[in-house]
Parts: sequence; structure tokens; C-alpha cells
Amino acid sequence: MDIIPLTEEYTPKTLVHRGEQIKDIENEILTFKRIGVCSNLLIDGTSGSGKTVTIKYLIKKYPEQIQYHNAVELDSSILNLLNEISDKSGTTIYSALTKVFDTLSQKRIILVIDEIHKFRNIEKLWNLLNGIYRRTSIPSFVIPTRKQFVNTMPEDAKLTLLYQHVLFPAYTADEIRDILKQRLELSGASFEDDGILSAIAYRTYHLGARTAINVLRTLVCDEIKKPTPAMLDGIIHRFDAESLKTTICRMDKIEQNLMFIMADLMVTQHGRPVHTGLVTERYVEGFGTLARETISRKITNLVEYGYLTPVGGQRTAKRDGPGITRRLSMDILTAYQIQKIHDELLTAIPQKKLEAE
Ligand SMILES: Nc1ncnc2c1ncn2[C@@H]1O[C@H](COP(=O)(O)OP(=O)(O)OP(=O)(O)O)[C@@H](O)[C@H]1O
Ligand SMILES: [Mg+2]
Repeated sequence: MDIIPLTEEYTPKTLVHRGEQIKDIENEILTFKRIGVCSNLLIDGTSGSGKTVTIKYLIKKYPEQIQYHNAVELDSSILNLLNEISDKSGTTIYSALTKVFDTLSQKRIILVIDEIHKFRNIEKLWNLLNGIYRRTSIPSFVIPTRKQFVNTMPEDAKLTLLYQHVLFPAYTADEIRDILKQRLELSGASFEDDGILSAIAYRTYHLGARTAINVLRTLVCDEIKKPTPAMLDGIIHRFDAESLKTTICRMDKIEQNLMFIMADLMVTQHGRPVHTGLVTERYVEGFGTLARETISRKITNLVEYGYLTPVGGQRTAKRDGPGITRRLSMDILTAYQIQKIHDELLTAIPQKKLEAE
């Protein structure tokens, strides 16, 4: 038995159910190979929909044409990114950028920037990519996890870069089952019956392929040949909670508090959408002196990240101004995750402040 194909980092030689996306991206790479220019791509989709693995697969195929960079590995620093591109160590963005221009004019290569939404000062990065493109016509393939991400792009950059979207829809349960089947075969492990893969897939598809693979690996490693539904749910919840923790840890304090407040309101309102105004009120009550505009900007961020979902578009409360007078829900999170945030909230925020209505 080989455990490697059951790990997240493993890139299979063939990818299932991503033929269309591979073709779209590959066409651009081939154009670039042929004439030295191609479209900028925005590779867009929910977490665990195969964006990174697809790009890694194409990098293996075209190592001369693409170069991979990842915001998290670069500590969210634009300077680190520029230094990695030029393979030099500039100390200011300006000096690093000059080196990037030199490098890219000689070594023509497509820049892939994964988890781009995690860079600090994203607006500056868009302007830099715009500058790089204007100066060297080197294209970039950017990969965010958050929705509506392109909205953070300044108009000028939008007009020059003209990102073409390549959409990675969330996998269906059947697709997840096929991904799991491939991994299991590659590992040489097996279960007592095929129904187990379907059971994992049906319980995890809304969480993405990553969770599904993690659950599969746990079962194989713990030599559980015939898991009960309760066992599966236990394992899934563990990974679900872990990914949620990572997500929340990466937010700033204000965003974290807003997530907690939202979860609390969702739980007490039995899953019904929550009015934005109420969230703001709760924030002011619980955490005091933050300008209302700052709170609504933070809420807008959470909507753009995809953690909060606007429901309906009516403008009711006049004083809130345009754009934020809507109801919000937390569609991206499972009921379990919302409950989990809610439970943590009870220890994070002093009780009496929560009860103050
Ligand atoms: N079509 C596929 N075939 C085989 N494995 C896949 C496929 N899609 C996803 N996977 C696997 O599922 C896991 C999650 O995929 P990946 O990391 O590419 O997601 P992502 O879209 O980049 O998510 P995030 O936005 O969270 O970074 C990885 O282990 C990856 O290898
Ligand atoms: Mg990824």
C-alpha cells in the first residue's frame, strides 16, 4: 500500500472531471508558447474544487512556460513575491520591481499566483501586475478562493488586464466519488464494498475534494474497512472543524468578531437570514467604538470573501446607505460550522454583552 496518493499534496497523472478547465487553461499556455503572449486568467472557484491541483498538473506538463507562486508560502508579502519572481533580493518594492522587469523581459514565463486574495494590500498587487503586463506583456493566471474577488481590482488594472474567467464549479457527489476511487486505486488500498466511497462522497461533496480525500486517508490509515455512518460523520466533523479554524484564524480580529456575531444571530434565529443593521448593532454593543462605516466595510469584505451571503436586495433602513441594507446568511458554512462558531463565541465574548439586546 502506498499512502502518498492519499495525501493532499499529491498530483495525480490524470485529473478526473476537469477536462474543460484544463483545455481552457492549456489553450492559453499553448498560445503563449507559440506567440509569446496570451490572456490573463482568473481561475475562480470554491475551496477544494481543484484549482491548485489543475495548475500543478499543467506546470508539470509545461515547466518552461509557467512559474508558480503562492501567497501563503510568501507570507502574504508582495515584496517576497517580487523577489521570488526575479530570484534576487530587493529590499524595496521599487528596486525589486526593476529586477522583475529585467528577469521577465529575458525569461518569458506566465506568472501563476495562487491564493492571491491572501496578499496584504491587494490593490497594490493589482497595480503591479498591471505594470508588469504593460511593460513586459507577461500574463498572469491568478487563483483566488473568494467570490467577487475581481471587484478589488482598480478600474485601470481591470481595463488593461482584462482577466478571462475560468470557472471551477464545486464537484458533485458523483464527481467526488470518482476522485476518491482514483486515489484509492493509486494507493493500492481497498474497502470491503464500493458503497463506502459513495458514502464518503455524499457526506463530503459540499465541503470540497480536500475534506473527502482527508476522510479517505484517515479510514485507510486507521484500517477501518467498514465504517459506520456515525464513524464517518465523526471523522468529517473533525476535518470540517479544522478547516474552519484555519479560515477563522486567518481573518483579522474585527472580521472574526463579526463572524461570531453572525453565527450567534443565525443560531438564535434558527438559520433565518440576518439584517446587516442588526449585525452592526451587535458589534457596537459588544465591542464598542468602531465607526459604522468601518464595520460595514468589514461586512462587505466578508461578503466578498464569500463567507457571508447577501439575501435579497431591498433597501429598507435608509440610514445604512446603499449597498449594505440587506440581509445576510452564511451559505458557505455548514450548520455544524455555524454551531461551532456560535459555541466559541460564548467563550470569546463576555456573556452579559451578548445578552444585552
Ligand atoms: N479533479 C481532481 N482529480 C484528482 N484530485 C483532485 C481533483 N480535484 C481536486 N483534487 C484534490 O482535492 C484536493 C483539493 O484540491 P485543490 O487543492 O486543487 O483545491 P483548490 O480549488 O485549490 O482549493 P482552495 O481554494 O482551498 O485552495 C487536492 O488534494 C487535490 O489533489
Ligand atoms: Mg488551492
